[in-house]
Amino acid sequence: MKQKTCIPQGFPMGKVAYFVTSNVHKFLEARNVLSEYKLATAKLGVDAVEIQDPRLETIAKYSVLDAVKNCGLPVFVEDAGLFVEALEGFPGPYSKYVYNTVGVEGILKLMKNIANRNAYFMSVIAFASPDKQPVCFVGKVEGKLSLQMHGTLGFGYDPIFVPSEGDGRTFAEMATDEKNVYSHRAKALRTFAEWYSS
Ligand code: IMP
Repeated sequence: MKQKTCIPQGFPMGKVAYFVTSNVHKFLEARNVLSEYKLATAKLGVDAVEIQDPRLETIAKYSVLDAVKNCGLPVFVEDAGLFVEALEGFPGPYSKYVYNTVGVEGILKLMKNIANRNAYFMSVIAFASPDKQPVCFVGKVEGKLSLQMHGTLGFGYDPIFVPSEGDGRTFAEMATDEKNVYSHRAKALRTFAEWYSS
């Protein structure tokens, strides 16, 4: 008897992009964007060292080379940071450390009584394979830091980031597909997807 296949409607049947990340939110954002390009996204739990460096691109390139060394597959990684104008770009490439130590509350405390709330998120995707050196794709979103946390969706600094082109809501008040209209990561992913699917 012929076996019936159980492929959900709308499932991207094209090429697969392997995303090395432990962050399920990042994976869901990537899956949503890459499906627009008929790319399937696979989440790989491979070790990929994350160094400290003033440039996101250096961090992402180092990380993807380590991931390729550990799994022998063509993969991509993503590194992001929040850059606050009044804090001279802090926490920037140190966003993870700051989030894990003082958290969102720490940033709000630093920003107390500061009128200039301008900030941006930057995302760098690095792709590499056993026979290809890293290629990077960058995305950026401008916005403002809110005075308090709003919303429970997303992750990291999402509850305090209001994208300039949005309707005044923070990323944490948006579903994944809404955040993907504006976000730094979605922009980097779209540039990556154009290149990867061509
Ligand atoms: P990494 O790219 O995982 O190193 O992220 C650095 C830090 O920035 C982490 O602590 C995240 O919580 C935060 N971060 C990265 N991307 C986003 C985002 O899209 N929204 C909110 N916070 C983010």
